[in-house]
Amino acid sequence: MKLLEGKVALVTGANRGIGRAIALGLGSEGANVAFTDLAIDDNTKSLEAELSGLGVKGKGYASNAANYEETEKVVADVVEDFGTVDVLVNNAGITKDTLLMRMTEEQWDAVINVNLKSVFNFTKIVQPVMLKARSGSIINISSVVGVAGNAGQGNYSASKAGIIGFTKSIAKEVGSRNIRVNALAPGFIMTEMTDKLPEDVKETWIKTIPLRRGGTPEDVANTCIFLASDLSSYVSGQVINVCGAMQT
Ligand code: NAI
Repeated sequence: MKLLEGKVALVTGANRGIGRAIALGLGSEGANVAFTDLAIDDNTKSLEAELSGLGVKGKGYASNAANYEETEKVVADVVEDFGTVDVLVNNAGITKDTLLMRMTEEQWDAVINVNLKSVFNFTKIVQPVMLKARSGSIINISSVVGVAGNAGQGNYSASKAGIIGFTKSIAKEVGSRNIRVNALAPGFIMTEMTDKLPEDVKETWIKTIPLRRGGTPEDVANTCIFLASDLSSYVSGQVINVCGAMQT
């Protein structure tokens, strides 16, 4: 018996990177996977095909996670197509890195809306489905930068720290209904998001990581499988770092 047999997972921002690895990880443990991204493209189609190759249902939906109305629509569509949502992974996120001195209001608002408001949108709108089922696991992708801060990422770290406060609060609100809410704080994970960084910055980061490597999206996905499954049935309101001991 696989860990997530018969469960329905909804992953935001899953066309590529960590979200894609999470969708595949959950699918490989038997979950049917609905996922969102800004647009339906070749990546969406190939992820649907890979999920189907794992013997589970996989369907991608176009939706801007920062938009409340679009989130209402996509969650309704997912519930109609999949029947319920047992596992919600709030993964969609962006960076607009710059020092505060140069940060524009637009850069601040964009990062807060995509990274933090999206978590409010999906958690609030999926919550009634989980309340009705009297069970659920919500996994919010934060970052070690939300725990420790980082120069040049004032907007990003504020959004990721906000996710942690939200996670802990909602875990307390919905715990009595057997809904668990946790945050996952990845360190330096090798995806297109980090690929944008200059080589010397990447090398410097990696040198400071005790495990001496950047993480893979699969490293994050494996922890997500644990948090999604009954293996973590008494784990809620926590922040789990997946960072090679970069942040302890
Ligand atoms: P990525 O940039 O490779 O992928 C992000 C995905 O989210 C893309 O497919 C993108 O189209 C989608 N997306 C962006 N805005 C969206 C929106 N408004 N609505 C729906 N989808 C949207 O990024 P990566 O590295 O896979 O990051 C995934 C999550 O992990 C993000 O929340 C990020 O902040 C977090 N994270 C990443 C780390 C890293 O080192 N790569 C470290 C810590 C956290």
